[in-house]
Amino acid sequence: MGTLRALPRALLNLPFLALLMKPWSPTSWREFPILQQPNYPNSNAVTRVEQQLAQVPPLVFAGEARELKKQLAQVTNGEAFLLQGGDCAESFAEFSASNIRDTFKVMLQMAVVLTFAGSCPVVKVGRMAGQFAKPRSADTETFDGVELPSYRGDIINSTDFTSAARVPNPERLVQAYNQSAATLNLLRAFAQGGFADLKKVHQWNQDFVRTSPLGTRYEDLADQIDRSLSFMNACGLNAENTPQLHKTSLYTSHEALLLNYEQALTREDSLTNDWYDCSAHMLWIGDRTRQVDGAHVEFLRGVKNPLGFKAGPTMQADDMLRLLDVLNPDNEAGRINIITRMGADKVETYLPELIRAVEKEGRKVLWSSDPMHGNTIKTHTGYKTRQVKDVLREVKSFFDVHAAEGTYAGGVHFEMTGQNVTECMGGAHDITAEGLADRYHTACDPRLNADQALELAFLIADTLKQARINR
Ligand code: PEP
Ligand code: CO
Repeated sequence: MGTLRALPRALLNLPFLALLMKPWSPTSWREFPILQQPNYPNSNAVTRVEQQLAQVPPLVFAGEARELKKQLAQVTNGEAFLLQGGDCAESFAEFSASNIRDTFKVMLQMAVVLTFAGSCPVVKVGRMAGQFAKPRSADTETFDGVELPSYRGDIINSTDFTSAARVPNPERLVQAYNQSAATLNLLRAFAQGGFADLKKVHQWNQDFVRTSPLGTRYEDLADQIDRSLSFMNACGLNAENTPQLHKTSLYTSHEALLLNYEQALTREDSLTNDWYDCSAHMLWIGDRTRQVDGAHVEFLRGVKNPLGFKAGPTMQADDMLRLLDVLNPDNEAGRINIITRMGADKVETYLPELIRAVEKEGRKVLWSSDPMHGNTIKTHTGYKTRQVKDVLREVKSFFDVHAAEGTYAGGVHFEMTGQNVTECMGGAHDITAEGLADRYHTACDPRLNADQALELAFLIADTLKQARINR
């Protein structure tokens, strides 16, 4: 049975694969079947916007994407940990310096907890500066008996529940690009300009978090870091001679869903003559658009950025290996991150087979866990939410399965915000189904708030430390 199932994939492998695949170009995806795209009423307007975006400056540089790939190769080899997180979808309405700063603070807090308590270098990648488009399970939504096209993210249409607001508008692609540029500009300043200085470790704790048990635990850790810094300073290590103490790198990522946008920002690197999608350092393919013969896979196979793809419970081992054949034919470490999002109860059932297939074939894969998208529920009050305890359980199972298989649980992928929202249930403040109504701000999926995210970071730090000791 195993041999029979392996046969078609073997035929698609190596020389056969090369023969069967047509040459890649930034536009070759247009010949492939494509899912989850908006229906614009005016295609001339779309073409005009695509031409405009093809002229704008790139958001990131090829060299930065190469540097991230190098760091992700270290994660793949078990030498570091990947922390990827941010909004489910960025919005035009919530665009502000303080929102960006607060999400960055949570990333820094989580990273410092993982680095210090988990004794592990952390590669930080934001779902930021480009995460605007949403794949939807249903094309329409119904409210009070009225059916309208679904909201697909601010880069496409608007959340307002009117038929005019739901018409896709290509000008939104330009607004998303501009917001991404401004967001990235600020993130670069925060990362490099002193905000990420380890001496500021206390200031990353926000007032509403400070009073929670997690906030107190964080303050203890920050005190220990202060003492370590004083010790290092006495030994002659300081921000002047050790820049890592003073600045950091935060890379950007988003789901590459709107391929006309991604194509417009794809540029040929003058140093290597390779193509890079310069809309973000890393791009991933969602669970709904990962068909091996579909447009999304076709587009991404040709750009050299580090890539991810989501693997939900429907992912078959054969399909996963074919995706690896197509997206990473040279088996390069750091190129592929498989982001598993099974649901807390399903990790133990579905993950081992995927890991074994990768191991058997000697594929280099960075495994990370998205404990959000398989754990979405609806409350009796009508809110889409997630329970922190399910999120924690999925992460824990992910680590347990990797420990049992002898493989490295390399990272986590979260939807979280620095805001004091009430979108996920549970956590230190024990948000209840009724409490969700207080500050439920998301237009898309429910996000962890700052103290729920911190709780997760401490749990992972403990598990990570143990996992690294056992290796
Ligand atoms: C997401 O990451 O926002 C998402 C929609 O995930 P998935 O493709 O795994 O459902
Ligand atoms: Co989401």
